[in-house]
Amino acid sequence: MDRISIIGGQELHGTIPISGAKNAALPLMIASLLTDETLSLVNMPNLADVELLTRILGNHGVDYSVNGRREEQGVLYPRTYNFHASSIVDTTAPYELVSKMRASFWVIGPLLARCGEARVSLPGGCAIGTRPVDLFIEGLRALGAEIEIDRGYAKARAPKGLIGNRYVFPKVSVGATHVLMMAASLAKGETVLENAAREPEIVNLADCLNAMGARVSGAGTSTIAIEGVASLSGTTHEIIPDRIETGTYAMAVAMTGGDVLLEGARPELLQSALDTLAQTGVEIIPVNSGIRVRRNGAGISAVDITTEPFPGFPTDLQAQFMGLMTRAKGRSRITENIFENRFMHVQELARLGARIQLSGQTAVVDGVETLHGAEVMATDLRASVSLVIAGLAAEGETVVHRVYHLDRGFERLEEKLSGCGATIRRLSS
Ligand code: EPZ
Repeated sequence: MDRISIIGGQELHGTIPISGAKNAALPLMIASLLTDETLSLVNMPNLADVELLTRILGNHGVDYSVNGRREEQGVLYPRTYNFHASSIVDTTAPYELVSKMRASFWVIGPLLARCGEARVSLPGGCAIGTRPVDLFIEGLRALGAEIEIDRGYAKARAPKGLIGNRYVFPKVSVGATHVLMMAASLAKGETVLENAAREPEIVNLADCLNAMGARVSGAGTSTIAIEGVASLSGTTHEIIPDRIETGTYAMAVAMTGGDVLLEGARPELLQSALDTLAQTGVEIIPVNSGIRVRRNGAGISAVDITTEPFPGFPTDLQAQFMGLMTRAKGRSRITENIFENRFMHVQELARLGARIQLSGQTAVVDGVETLHGAEVMATDLRASVSLVIAGLAAEGETVVHRVYHLDRGFERLEEKLSGCGATIRRLSS
C-alpha cells in the first residue's frame, strides 16, 4: 500500500488548480441513468471514487467515453466524460459494489423512476457513523414506491410509475435530497421537498436536470419544487469547483504560512469556512481567477466551530480545521453535529503531539508550539488530509499510511502541494 512522506516546515507559495467537485460529480454521473441520451460532464476530477462509480454504472448498462484534455503544470488530464445509458440492462446494485462506496446507493432513485424497479444493496455503516438510509426509503415511499428490506437489499417497485407528492425531510440529508430530486423529475405531477439540503452540489445537480428537460425550482433553498416530465434528454454540463478541496488547501496555507492562489475556486461555495479562516488570522482575497490565501509570520488564532448543513461550516472540513487548530495560540472547541463518529483523526493527530480532549460531540484542542513528525494512519478521506496538514507544519518526517483514502477525493495531492514548495512525496510499496 502506498504511503505519503512529508518533511514539515516549508511555507507554501504558488498556484494550486482546484479540481471539479467529487460530491457534485458523483450524483451527476448517477443522473445519466435517467435518460437514454448522452450526458457529458465537463471538469471531471480524476479520482478513485469516480473510477469506481463508472464501474458501478457500467453494471447497469451505462457506457462511457472520455474526451477533451486539460493541461495543468505541463501534464494533460481528461476533462469531459460522456455517459450513455441507452438501455438499463440490470436494475440490481449488488453488495460487492455498493459496499465500496455509499453514494452508489443513490442509483435507487433514477432506476426506480426510469425502470419502475430497483434492487439495491444497503450500504451499511462506515468509519464516520452509522449513516442509515431511512430518509431515502421514506421519501421514495411518499412518491408511491413500494419498498421492502430483504436480506440486506432495498427492493423497490413502482409498476405504474412514481407520483409527485409533498415530502418534509425530518433531517437535512444531501444524498436523500439528490435522490428525491432525480426520482421526482420523472414522476407524474408535482413534488415539493421541504427541509431539503441547500449544498452547492444540490444546485449543480438541479441545473443539470433542468438542462436535461426537468422542471426543478428552488434548489439552493430549503423548499424544492419539481414538476415531473415524461422523459429527459442528454446535455453537456459543467461540474462546480470542489469547495472541500479549496478549503483544505486554504487551511494548509493557514498552517504553514505563505501565499497561494487557489485557481478556479469560488468563495461563495464556502463562505462560512473562509470567514472562520479569516478569524484565525489568514488573509482571504477573492480575485478574478480564484481565491488568494496569505498568512505572514503571525501566529494562528484559536477559533471555535460547529459543523452544520450548508451554509454552515461543512463537516467535510472539520478534520482539516482541527489539524490547523493543533498549532493555534490557545484553546478551540470543535463540535461535530452531522456525523456521530467523525473524530477518528484525533488519536492520529495526538501521535504528532497535538493536545486534544474529546467530550461527546466536542473536541477541545489546546494549541501547541511544535508538532513532531511520526507515522500515522489515514482512517477516512477527510481525516487523512488533516494529517497531511499537520505534517506540513511538524518538525521532521511524517509518514501517512493507507493513502488510498486520500486518492478517493484528492486529485494529485502530492503534486499540487510540492508545486508550492512542500516537501511531500508518495512512497510506492
Ligand atoms: C454527503 O453525504 C457527502 N457525500 C459527504 O461527504 C458529506 O459529509 C455529507 O453529505 C454531509 O455534508 C457525498 O456527497 C457523496 P447526509 P451523505 O445524508 O449524503 C443522516 C466526503 O468526505 N441520515 O447529508 O451521505 C446521516 O447519518 C463525504 O466527501 C439519516 O439519518 O450525508 C448524517 O448524520 C463523507 N438517514 C446526516 O443525515 C438517511 O437516510 C447527514 O447525512 C440519510 C442520512
